[in-house]
Amino acid sequence: MIDKNDKSAIILMFHVHKKYGSKKALININLDVSKNEFLFITGPSGAGKSTLLKLLYLGESVSEGQILIDGMNLSRISRKRIPLLRRKLGIIFQDYKLIPTKTVFDNVALVLEAMGKKRQFVQKKVNSVLRTVGMESRFNALPQSLSGGEQQRIAVARAVVGAPKIILADEPTGSLDSESAGVIFDLLKGFHTRGGTLIVATHDKELIRKTGCRAIHLKEGRQVSK
Ligand SMILES: Nc1ncnc2c1ncn2[C@@H]1O[C@H](COP(=O)(O)OP(=O)(O)O)[C@@H](O)[C@H]1O
Ligand SMILES: [Mg+2]
Repeated sequence: MIDKNDKSAIILMFHVHKKYGSKKALININLDVSKNEFLFITGPSGAGKSTLLKLLYLGESVSEGQILIDGMNLSRISRKRIPLLRRKLGIIFQDYKLIPTKTVFDNVALVLEAMGKKRQFVQKKVNSVLRTVGMESRFNALPQSLSGGEQQRIAVARAVVGAPKIILADEPTGSLDSESAGVIFDLLKGFHTRGGTLIVATHDKELIRKTGCRAIHLKEGRQVSK
């Protein structure tokens, strides 16, 4: 069970630097994210938002500094334990990244199958999550037959189905009209209400204003106050 009164840090970044070759993408980032926090990362294109999220899911490794996620030190994590880290995380991208050859149901079910869950459990759980995102009737559809907003709802379902502690979302509403963006945002809020921790990179100032949650701002790889 998630204890909603426990506000200790679930993510810590200490003096994190990231270079791509000689290009400095992040410079001395220090950040702590509390359990059940809803944190926004903002900043212009190229500021380092995606890089920051990539470091958290080990899509890239840090050049300098340390990251702790739920007690795991990402610099020291063994290859064998990476799946353990990934299970703590649900990831959502601006371009959804659904598998085009698989049905809606299978895109979501894959997560649980990779965790070794039994068929019957998978069936029940996927149906229930698809209901939550309002897509249960489209279980047999292929992603290309869905609108962007619908595809993103499936991506949210895929991100939450394994009951992760943390959701990382990289401009999840960036390609959507405002109505679809509202639906996605409400789903993310639901995850937060149930005790989850979220980090959302976004340009959407209205979204941040509406929630009143903390936002950190990046500019040319540095954390700046606004
Ligand atoms: N794989 C890469 N190789 C080289 N440079 C990269 C790579 N990924 C990102 N960058 C550079 O790092 C900086 C930060 O990029 P990114 O994290 O994608 O910013 P944002 O998500 O805020 O737009 C940019 O200058 C970008 O060009
Ligand atoms: Mg980006």
